Amino acid sequence: MKGIILAGGSGSRLYPLTKVASKQLQPVYDKPMIYYPLTTLIENGVNEFCLISTPMDIPIFRQLLGNGNQWGTSFEYMEQQKPEGIAQAFLIAERFIGKGSVALILGDNIFYGADGFNLAFSEFGDGASIFGYHVNDPERYGVVEFDSRGKAISIEEKPKSPKSNYAVPGLYLYDNKVVSIAKNLKPSSRGELEITDVNMTYLNNSELKVYKLSRGFAWLDAGTSSSLHDASAYVQTIEKRQGIKIGCPEEAAFRAGFLSSAGLEKIIGKLPNCEYRTYLEEVLNETRR
Ligand code: TTP
Repeated sequence: MKGIILAGGSGSRLYPLTKVASKQLQPVYDKPMIYYPLTTLIENGVNEFCLISTPMDIPIFRQLLGNGNQWGTSFEYMEQQKPEGIAQAFLIAERFIGKGSVALILGDNIFYGADGFNLAFSEFGDGASIFGYHVNDPERYGVVEFDSRGKAISIEEKPKSPKSNYAVPGLYLYDNKVVSIAKNLKPSSRGELEITDVNMTYLNNSELKVYKLSRGFAWLDAGTSSSLHDASAYVQTIEKRQGIKIGCPEEAAFRAGFLSSAGLEKIIGKLPNCEYRTYLEEVLNETRR
């Protein structure tokens, strides 16, 4: 499965931070935000990526991630001229998607916890698979309603009276029909091609699976100054306590088998002396013990 990382948008809630660098380039504790969703996809076996962002920010992403070959992955970059909706990603990336299935992840979504998405990725055949995550403030998100047998029966975008506490996080898996579905969407009242409308189309065709994420799983969205700060504090707490890193693409690529020991060693050799380098040395040495 190929992967799209959507990292455009206006980032207005993080102004003035976003005056010089997009939201997804801001630090979340010890790494740029984009490292986290990228790592999530790599951990689930994705190694061909298309990164979509604004014309202003693409050169900086390119500087950060290059062509991806250093990690045994590949990166293409595509521009979104204006933030006209998450579902526009499928129109922009049509050529990249080609004839296969695709995972879309939002560049400001941070996930952490074992086994969250493994089953959905491994079981994926056709249709669409999305996730439901219990939150305190569902009205800020797409909200999914389940029947008594746990089957999804409706999805509403930012409802005033949510029918459940299950929000839809920014990771979606689609078969190839997503491109034609996106082509037939009409912009919503806020002028965007809505991802909820894509999911509704699959739901109406009985082709939508919704996996509930477990209680122990963390989903953080870093779109406001306060949630950005919370996300940094969360990552710092876990990393300090456990001595492992969250959102380390080199480690994920190495563990997924995309990057060889020699490849990782080469990367380490190019890093300055820093905590990140020491960590990668530990990852490499651990496998040699
Ligand atoms: P949002 O957080 O909804 O929007 P935003 O990033 O523009 O921020 P703000 O509301 O503060 O102005 O977007 C969710 C994610 O999707 C985020 O990573 C940006 C991305 N996105 C795009 O890349 N293009 C788009 O057209 C939209 C709507 C979002």
